[in-house]
Amino acid sequence: MQLIKSASELKSLLSEARRGGKSVGFLPTMGALHEGHLTLARRAVSENDISVVSVFVNPTQFNNKVDLETYPRNVAEDARKLSEVGVNFVFAPVVEEFYSKDELNNRFQFDFGGLDQVMEGKFRPGHFNGVVQVVSKLFSIVEPTKAYFGEKDFQQLAIIRRMVKVMNFNIEIVGCPIVRQVDGLALSSRNALLSDDQRQLATNIHAVLSESVQFVGQTSVQELHNSTIAAINRHDGLEVEYYDIVDGLTLKSIGRWDDSDYIVGCITVYCGKVRLIDNIRLK
Ligand code: PAF
Repeated sequence: MQLIKSASELKSLLSEARRGGKSVGFLPTMGALHEGHLTLARRAVSENDISVVSVFVNPTQFNNKVDLETYPRNVAEDARKLSEVGVNFVFAPVVEEFYSKDELNNRFQFDFGGLDQVMEGKFRPGHFNGVVQVVSKLFSIVEPTKAYFGEKDFQQLAIIRRMVKVMNFNIEIVGCPIVRQVDGLALSSRNALLSDDQRQLATNIHAVLSESVQFVGQTSVQELHNSTIAAINRHDGLEVEYYDIVDGLTLKSIGRWDDSDYIVGCITVYCGKVRLIDNIRLK
């Protein structure tokens, strides 16, 4: 495994490999790697000749300075874990070399076709501009054959799929199922910020969502929406920020169960000060 900081060095190493007809699998991350990331990394390793993982806490996707400053960082430990799963290149650039001043200071413009107006986009204005900015830049450097994204960040995955289409990237986007602990909690770097009690409390998010699936088609969308929020908020220490029941492709809220064949419930819950996201396929 090689740890690389320079985009031009990575580019030339990869173009050499590509000339030899090798496929390149790419996993973008912000580090603080957990088993969820490593599951995706293993997939990138097993499905491609060469695998690349980026570890970069992207400042342009944070709209909260404290969140950016406190985001866990440990590149050496991440690189060790990635080496163990057989990743070939870890790309960990420094902010000042990765971005020009202009890129850092101006919001990246992209036509989201409305996908940024709901859920995370509504509560974290500008977040997805930063995500598209960093992922498109990483794609131009790595030029992967396949790129891997977790379905936990459901809206991000939909936006990346649109980005690839709009920007004409010749890259296969692979959506990977949410990795959960045995008690159902979706793996997330933010779980490390939970106390033992909060960690236990947070299991109610997936428990309530899974329980709700049996009522799909039996009760109205609005009733299921309201009862899901109430069942989570009933637990002291949990507070739903939003719960949207949406079409899985357009992310538009649905009013009736027969509005779509692909329906997903997307939720964000504060567990104390820790913001956790999750989702469930309802239909
Ligand atoms: O999902 C993430 O960790 C980030 O949004 C990503 C895709 C690595 C871009 O910084």
